[in-house]
Amino acid sequence: MAAPFPTCYLNGDYLPIGEARVSPLDRGFLFGDGAYEVMPVYGGRPFRLEAHCNRLTRSLAELRMGDPLSREQWREIFSSLIERSGDGGGDQYLYWQVTRGAERGRNHAPLPEVPRTVFAFSCPLPAIPSTVLEKGLACVTAADTRWARCDIKSTALLANVLLRQLAVDAGAAETILLRDGQLTDASASAVHAVIGGELRTPPNSREILPSTTRTVVEELAARIGIPWRAAPVSETELRGAEEIWISAATREVQPVSSLDGRPVGGGRPGVLWRRVYEEFQRWKRELQGKPW
Ligand SMILES: Cc1ncc(COP(=O)(O)O)c(C=O)c1O
Repeated sequence: MAAPFPTCYLNGDYLPIGEARVSPLDRGFLFGDGAYEVMPVYGGRPFRLEAHCNRLTRSLAELRMGDPLSREQWREIFSSLIERSGDGGGDQYLYWQVTRGAERGRNHAPLPEVPRTVFAFSCPLPAIPSTVLEKGLACVTAADTRWARCDIKSTALLANVLLRQLAVDAGAAETILLRDGQLTDASASAVHAVIGGELRTPPNSREILPSTTRTVVEELAARIGIPWRAAPVSETELRGAEEIWISAATREVQPVSSLDGRPVGGGRPGVLWRRVYEEFQRWKRELQGKPW
């Protein structure tokens, strides 16, 4: 049976993912001490490469690490993985992470000059199911139990894992998070709400991840004349929103049709969502074959 992820990159080598080995003393394994990125690759072309690379460099800087590779080196790894995937130009996503590396023992305070562990792989990006586009997603809400630096895309994702499980337990697709009566994020997506005909997404802060797809959604909304604002969304506003959307690198932008079992707007994907979704598809086609 073919391995789902045939080749990965680990510390300078390309090898079958099943043969990749990392020390159990790696700080990523012991402490979740690292940062990561996930980027879609449409028809062999990375989407928003600079935004993802910049966010990783920023996450690492906030974790007091330099980026171990230059932009050119990262590009080289990405093109090799895309090429080696043998996917024939199908859509993929690239995952990459940097951890603080493996030490001789277990120390909370990191030792200086430990080589970073760099790991990356590419795998097929599943198409968005037609039922999601036709019927929308069911989502639940929960108190945001994440730490105070959600702006860092850290591999330490235990709260996100537990929060996503709440959605799974409820037969829903995603958990939308509230802190002090305000919308923050979802467990692994950004959240947008249409309120009074205007698209709103909470402003970037330490309480949310600066989503790359959110920026795309806002740019596309502006392009097709939908008013948008980065502004707080209260729980009451969220529950009364005409439309709710979630967005993420592997999801593009998807409509939410029910929240905690109650219909959102008319209980169907909204008209503004459809316009932005269609513009997203048009934009992807327009980028095909362009340099990246
Ligand atoms: C908590 C959280 N918010 C938002 C996002 C969306 O970010 P992006 O659009 O860059 O994938 C993610 C993606 O993993 C996430 O984990």
